[in-house]
Amino acid sequence: MSRLTGKNWLGAAAVGAALLSLPALSHFDDKQMPQSYRQSYFALLAANFGPMVGTVKGEIPWDQARMDSWAHDLAALATLDIMRGFVDGSDKGTTRAKPEIWQDKADFGSKMDALRKELASLQKVTAGGDREAIAAQVGAAGKACKSCHDDYKAEDYLY
Ligand code: HEC
Repeated sequence: MSRLTGKNWLGAAAVGAALLSLPALSHFDDKQMPQSYRQSYFALLAANFGPMVGTVKGEIPWDQARMDSWAHDLAALATLDIMRGFVDGSDKGTTRAKPEIWQDKADFGSKMDALRKELASLQKVTAGGDREAIAAQVGAAGKACKSCHDDYKAEDYLY
C-alpha cells in the first residue's frame, strides 16, 4: 500500500476538514489528559474521514490507494478504547463533551460501537473498489458521527 506523504496529503486533509465544517482546532494539555486524549482521537478520525468525504463528493480526485489508506487507518482507530478519554471527572475543562455523556455512558458507548461497525465495513467496502458502494458507506459512517454529535457534542466549549 502506498504511504501518503507531503503537501498533497495535508492539502486533502484540510479540504476534507473544511467540507465537514468541523473545527480545525486541536490541542494537547497535560493537565487535561482525558480531554486531550479524546479530542486528539476525534481530530485523527476527522483527518482521515474528511478526505474520504471530499473524494466521494468529487471535491478531491479519486485516488484508490489513498482511499484504502484512509479507510485502513480509520478501521485501526476504531479498535482503540476511546472510553478511556471519558473517565469520571473529565466532564469539565476545555471540552465540548456534553454532561449527558456521563449520565448515560451505556448509550454513548453504543453510539461509539455503531461507529466502530461502520468503520470496519468502510475498510472492506473501500477495498472492493465499487465507488457507489464506497460513497454509500462513507455516508453511513458519517451518519454515525452525526448521530453522536447531535446528542453529545456541543457547538462551543462548555466551561
Ligand atoms: C459516540 C460519540 C461520537 C462519535 C461516534 C463521533 N464523535 Fe466526534 N466528538 C464527540 C464528542 C463528545 C466530542 C467533543 C470532545 C471534547 O470536546 O472533549 C467530539 C469532537 C469531535 C471533533 C473536535 C475535536 C477537537 O479537536 O476538539 C471532531 C473533529 C470530531 N468529533 C469528528 C468526528 C468524526 C469525523 C466522527 C466520525 C468518523 C466522529 N467525530 C464520531 C463524540 C463523537
